[in-house]
Amino acid sequence: MANNNSLAQDLIKHADIVKVVESYIPLIKQGKNYKCVCPFHDDTNPSLTVSPEKQFFKCFVCGTGGNAIGFIQKYEHISFQEAMRKLADLVDYHPAGLEKVNTHVKVDARREELLKCLHDLNLYYQFALNTPEGKEGLDYFEKRNLDVSSRNKYKLGYAPKDGKATIEFLQKKGHSLKTIEDTGVCKMISTGLYRDMNEGRVTFPICDIDGNVIGFSARRLQNDDTAKYMNTPETYLFHKTNNLYNIHIAKDAARLKGYIYVCEGFMDVYALGKIGIDAAVAIMGTALTAEHIQILRSLNVEIRLCLDGDLPGQSAMMKIAKNLASSGLNFRIVDNQGSDRDPDEILNEDGKVALEEYLNKLTSQTEFALNYYLRSNPLKTNEEKKTLIKEFLPILLRLTSQIELDSYLRKLSKITGFDVESIRDLVKRARMNAFTGTAQENARTIMQNFHPEREALQKLVTAERELLYQMSQNKDAVAFYEDKIGGFYDDVYRQIANFMIEYAESHDEMDPSGIMVLVEDSEVQNKDEIINDLTSLLVETHPNDCSQQLLDNLLETINDEKSRITDEDILENSLEGKSELEQARIIADFRRRKMKK
Ligand code: UTP
Ligand code: MN
Repeated sequence: MANNNSLAQDLIKHADIVKVVESYIPLIKQGKNYKCVCPFHDDTNPSLTVSPEKQFFKCFVCGTGGNAIGFIQKYEHISFQEAMRKLADLVDYHPAGLEKVNTHVKVDARREELLKCLHDLNLYYQFALNTPEGKEGLDYFEKRNLDVSSRNKYKLGYAPKDGKATIEFLQKKGHSLKTIEDTGVCKMISTGLYRDMNEGRVTFPICDIDGNVIGFSARRLQNDDTAKYMNTPETYLFHKTNNLYNIHIAKDAARLKGYIYVCEGFMDVYALGKIGIDAAVAIMGTALTAEHIQILRSLNVEIRLCLDGDLPGQSAMMKIAKNLASSGLNFRIVDNQGSDRDPDEILNEDGKVALEEYLNKLTSQTEFALNYYLRSNPLKTNEEKKTLIKEFLPILLRLTSQIELDSYLRKLSKITGFDVESIRDLVKRARMNAFTGTAQENARTIMQNFHPEREALQKLVTAERELLYQMSQNKDAVAFYEDKIGGFYDDVYRQIANFMIEYAESHDEMDPSGIMVLVEDSEVQNKDEIINDLTSLLVETHPNDCSQQLLDNLLETINDEKSRITDEDILENSLEGKSELEQARIIADFRRRKMKK
């Protein structure tokens, strides 16, 4: 048998490290080399370099490096020998001798016993659902719209209150008490007295990727103070945080469809299943772990994150998104901001079409993150705001569409209060510098020269925002706006103001929630943006009551700051994206107006 060393070299000669790394993480070509986000440290900028010439990878930030086998080994947390076998499969080159490595797969007798026991137990639960005692469980499932076909598909059941009888049944089937105990489902409460942990609950078997039952979650039927879902504790077979619920059904559907939804709970998976989307798994209320990521990666499909829309759900989503991005996975996010219902609730309350629409509203991580910051307003200091801009810089640099860039710049400006143009300048400078020096040096010097606290626009927008808030509370402020201001500088504020005017025309008093409904009910194109802005406006603290004095002060600030925004700024803005001919005409026009002043 050839030794590992020469085998490895033989393999390396037949592999291309670029293809290997690329099968895990998207690569960007840069000169002779390729770059990607480094999976071995918490990376957001691509800092891992892959050299096709040298057949090595190296991260210049965390220092990790090596060859193709080393990459697979580190990435998958497997042994060198296993990594060799993976590489052999990947490049479809199988040198003699390699097969012998690691082929003696042992039959794991303990595992087999436990699996068999859990299988029998689940059949018992399924059977019990249709006994007189199980009626309560059956009624519960009916109430949750889980009909017989759903119940069979997900193998749902009921654990009888007499747990002792359950255990005796398993013993009669030939399972030892030790095995029964080791499944984690049954527990000795005093000498010789055992009980079933799931007693009196409806049961949801949790399966491994091959469909074997490895544990349970069991839901209480009454609203008492016990845990809503009782989960099998960690056992030899069952590790809650390693498992994706429904993966055995979802995996084939996902490969067929090219995507997989990652939801929070069982009920969400069932809701998707009911409308024909089997490509759905649940993380069962935990964080997304490295093991989850491994499983998802192996599917090689687009991941669609679909967690609850409440604030905890959203901040969980932000974390998970970062995690997925730094693992180089391809994903989008179900845009649930502003909705606090889960898929199950949407299906029950609004039906199939509504759920389909909800699931198809997918946004990128960037879009989601920007909306999240806009909504939750978590940034306080200038430093935090600059850090945010720095984080977004690589994304901004990658945008090729002017319209997209504009929309991101506007949002970033709103989040940070920094002038749109100063962020645009930063992007321009970063683009010019991208070709000299190292990426890190560039990021540092560029950020050092970034002084977005240029005040004019910030003051203007702040004043407009304050007036807009007063308008949401007070009809006098609306009248004042119509009379004295006529239109806000900020596009979205102007749109919101128009809604308020419309509202004021048909109501005696202003009511923020009424205004919100008016927006929601309208056909306006950028509805989400407006709702996001309006929401954060309304949740902010505004210490001032509406007085004539306040309105007059705001008017003065708005007029002053507007005149401070220079004509040149406006000119430069209007040239963007125009043809040369149009640019010439705009410049000529500008000169004419300036001479008249
Ligand atoms: P949710 O509380 O959102 O569950 O928790 P749900 O699916 O909407 O449940 P219903 O509609 O009230 O029945 C999401 C997931 O977190 C896990 C479960 O896997 C659940 O599906 N969880 C929740 C637990 O493990 N234990 C609990 O006590 C609660
Ligand atoms: Mn629910």
